[in-house]
Order: sequence, then C-alpha cells, then structure tokens
Amino acid sequence: MSVLVAGFILALLAVTPLALARPDVHRFKWEVEYQFWSPDCQERPVIAINGRFPGPTIRAKAGDIVHVDLTNKLNTEGVVIHWHGIRQMGTPWADGTAAISQCAINPGESFAYRFVVDKPGTYFYHGHYGMQRSAGLYGALIVDVANGKSEPFHYDGEFDLLLSDWWHKSVHEQEIGLSSIPFRWINEPNSLLINGRGQYGCSLAAGTCKFNGTEQCAPRVLRVFPNKTYRLRIASTTALASLSVAVANHKMTVVEADGNYVQPFEVENLYIYSGESYSVLITTDQDPTKNYWISVGVVGREPNTTQALTLLNYVSVRAAVLPASPPPAAPRWNDYTSMRAFARKIHALPHYSYAPPPARFHRRIALLNTQNKYNGQTKWAINNVSLSLPTTPYLGSLRYNLREAFDATPPPEGFPFDYDIMVPASKTECTVNNGIYLLQLNTTIDVVLQNANTLSANTSEIHPWHLHGHDFWVLGYGDGKFVEGVSDRKFNLKNPPLRNTVVIFPYGWTVLRFVADNPGAWAFHCHIEPHLHMGMGVVLAEGVERVRGIPNEALKCGLTGKMFMDSKRG
Ligand code: C2O
Ligand code: CU
Repeated sequence: MSVLVAGFILALLAVTPLALARPDVHRFKWEVEYQFWSPDCQERPVIAINGRFPGPTIRAKAGDIVHVDLTNKLNTEGVVIHWHGIRQMGTPWADGTAAISQCAINPGESFAYRFVVDKPGTYFYHGHYGMQRSAGLYGALIVDVANGKSEPFHYDGEFDLLLSDWWHKSVHEQEIGLSSIPFRWINEPNSLLINGRGQYGCSLAAGTCKFNGTEQCAPRVLRVFPNKTYRLRIASTTALASLSVAVANHKMTVVEADGNYVQPFEVENLYIYSGESYSVLITTDQDPTKNYWISVGVVGREPNTTQALTLLNYVSVRAAVLPASPPPAAPRWNDYTSMRAFARKIHALPHYSYAPPPARFHRRIALLNTQNKYNGQTKWAINNVSLSLPTTPYLGSLRYNLREAFDATPPPEGFPFDYDIMVPASKTECTVNNGIYLLQLNTTIDVVLQNANTLSANTSEIHPWHLHGHDFWVLGYGDGKFVEGVSDRKFNLKNPPLRNTVVIFPYGWTVLRFVADNPGAWAFHCHIEPHLHMGMGVVLAEGVERVRGIPNEALKCGLTGKMFMDSKRG
C-alpha cells in the first residue's frame, strides 16, 4: 500500500517538477576548538564551536538540507559530529560516527556534512569520538514543519532546554580512569546544565545562586505572557545522568518524543534519559504576579549533584524576583515504579506520519547487558562481547568488501537461556572485538534488550539505548527475564511509540522493532558516555552494497582503508 502511494507521489513529482518548492539549504562553517568557559561558574576547557558553548542551534524546516563545513581546530585530536535523531537516508557517511560512518577528521582538516532533515521535531548534535560529548561538544537541532503543514497541537511560543551534566575533571582524566587498573569511576557530575548554564553547588538557602547577571553560567529565564501556551523542547545530552524536569505549579502535556508525535498526556514531572528528546506544552494560567521555578534533578542513581534551576518569568514581574516556595524536588532517585509508569504512558499519535509496526518480525536478536572484566579492566559487554572499533570505518569496508578491516565473525544472536540476571556474571571475563550484525535489507528486526546485575551484588543500572539511522517501535517493557513466547504476548502492536532512544530499567527488559530499510552501518549503543567508552554497544549494517557516493575522507584511515585508496589511485 505505502509503496503504491509512494510510487504515485513519485509519478506526480515527475510530471509537475515546477510545482515543487526547492528545499532550502542551511549552510554553516564551523570551527571546533578548545576554549576556556565557565559553564557552572568555574572556568574549565570546553570544546566550543565558533567560540561558543553549547554550539549554535541549527533550525530548519522538514525537507530542508543542512550543510555544515566542519574544520577541526583541536590541535591534538580528531573530531566528528553526529546528528542525533536524523536518519541520514541516502547519506550514511554523514552520520558522524568515528570508525563506523567515517574517519575522524584530523587536526587542521575539514569534512562536509550534508544531509536532509526529513522529519519535524526536537533533535540535537554532539561529538561521537572518544568522550568528546562529555567535553561539551553539543548543541540543539530543531526541525519545524514544512511550509503549509501544521503541528497536531497549538502553541503561542517556544523555548529550547538542552540538558547536560558537567564535570570539573577533564574528559582525558575521566577516560584514563575508566581504562585504569584498578578502575576509577567518573563519579556523579559536579553540575547539571540547562542550555550549557548551571551553578556549581549553589544554595538557595544561603543565597549563593545568581539569577541575573551576564556571566556564562547565569541561567536564561523563560519570559512568558499570561494565558498562553508554550512549547518546551527538552533534549538530554547528558553523559551519565537520568533526569526529572518539573515546572512549579504548571502541569506539562507531553506531545512529542524523539521527533515523533505522541498521544498527549499530562504529567507533573518529565523523566528524560540521555539521548531522548521531548516537547511538552505548558499553559501560563497561574498567578501572573509571580515567577515559578523550573528544576532539573538526577534520578536513577543516588544523586550527589545540586538541581539545575531556571525561572518561568511572567512578563509583569522582574526576572530577578525569586519564587517564595522552593523549587520542585525530583522524585525519590530510585522510584522506578513511577519511571516505568511514565514510560508506559507514551503512545504514538496515529495519522501523523505514523505507521504501526509490521505484525511479524524476520529476525529477533537478544542483547544481554552485563558488566565484565577484560585483562583486569572493567568493561560493559553485550552477549559477553565488549565493542572495540576498527581503524578503517565499517561503512567503507563493507561497501568495498575490505574483509580484513574488522572481525568477520558476527557477535552472538543471544545469550545462554539459563543466565541468571539477578547476580553478577559468574564468568566475569568477556571478549573484546569488532564484529557486527549484518541485517538483510528491508527485513523486520526485533531487539530484546535484557538488563542484568552489574559486577556488584544487588546492583543493576539504567541504560538508555540509542539506534542510529532508524526510528524503532517500542513494543514493551518488563521486569526480570524476557521469556520468548510469553513476554511477547503483552506487546503493544497497535500504537507503540516510534523513538530513537529507549531505556532498559534495572533487572528489566525492553523490546523494540524496526525495519532495516536504510543502507548504511549504524551504531546501536548505550547513550551513557562512559558506558559506550567501556564497550557498551553493537554495530548493525544493512544494504551497504547499494550505497553510492562515500567521500574518500570517510574511508582513507587505518591500514586497510589507506591501502585500498592507494590501489584505486594506482
Ligand atoms: Cu547521541 Cu551514537 O549517539
Ligand atoms: Cu549504560
């Protein structure tokens, strides 16, 4: 059916080329560079874009082209930028994943990212090499509806809230700790940031938080008119923290998740995990002679970080007037019941560019998430394999059949059925390699994400999993172990939400379904930066033989890639 419709539209386009508006091209020239900045009122190096932190907000309409000429001015390290949530249909080399879609851009060199933003929604971009996202390499990417189209809800104004967490310890020090023996954990963030602004350890009681001022760390207040509806676009690019967001005295209606409309539902607080984005609507129907707190706090781990704060500032009040009542507190950090309840409220909004999932899958892959050891190092492993990346990117090696570029043995499709997820792995040692899952083009794939105990007794952590190149339907969540043929009876096949990131709760499972319809090589990983760094991810690829136009710079690194390029020349 949809193929027929698509064919019909194509035929229409062919006969009426003049009626077609040409897409706008949004061109940017970006220089990426270390620079001193005070995100939380303490000066540290950050990775800035064109001298700014966070990087500039990209704003385009659905169907437009974004073109970023990126120059690496970090003197001693490579760089790439990933456009989180953009599927890169037809441009898999622009996905911005080092060693997967392209070579890291060397110091002094440039790379052109050119891609279509096909769906309206709230997205962001960030570094995807080493732990550069943690160093502050990120920014917002907002896609409005195409001309002549409208959103399925009304609003009078909007604000972007890009959420992140921040450490005073440098990313290099964090990285070294993660691979050291004994292991040194990065610990909880020093601060939470809203649009790159926070205040380290400030205390309202002691009057040490500042809400007006020109410092880099001064919060941007949200100035609003009474009796209007505002859209807050909230995205989380945290390295570690799961967050709860609340606006005092104002309920939020969730309307979008990861660039897909959802059936509106009302909440007091929004749970958001790293890699997710939401739009919520608020109505400014409270006493307009007051200001109201907006607070962001840590959940899912025992918090040791002060909440990030800003103000909802009604226009008749001075921005510096603080609310009389305290900011909304985050729910108890381990209130997983309420986190699960929130997740289960998210349903797709039918009829708005949404198709229900295929009723059947062709292949189901089960991925067990465990913490392991490897030669004394602490690792995360999927089916006992911890991911390491090759020196020549997968996309080019798959396209040109460079077999020696990575491990030819694919990783396991599942894990031992008697694996006990409630205790630390009895066999602690994992393997480290770079094999990948090759998917048949246009088949329907199910992934069962199975959580388990970490290496410490009675501990299981939240992991938000993010898929590149696709949106997936979230079919269901459950506690304990996924039981084939039993757990799947409770799947929502009618209106499951489409997303690009989904969480697995402690000791639980989550199942997602997607169609492998986008030729390319795609990362699928835990969006917690140190977890990915410790190997918590896999790589999927489909239809790469059809890819045309991979730029040379996306291929010529690593011995295999360089030798191949030389042979082409010779
Ligand atoms: Cu936002 Cu592979 O990540
Ligand atoms: Cu994780």
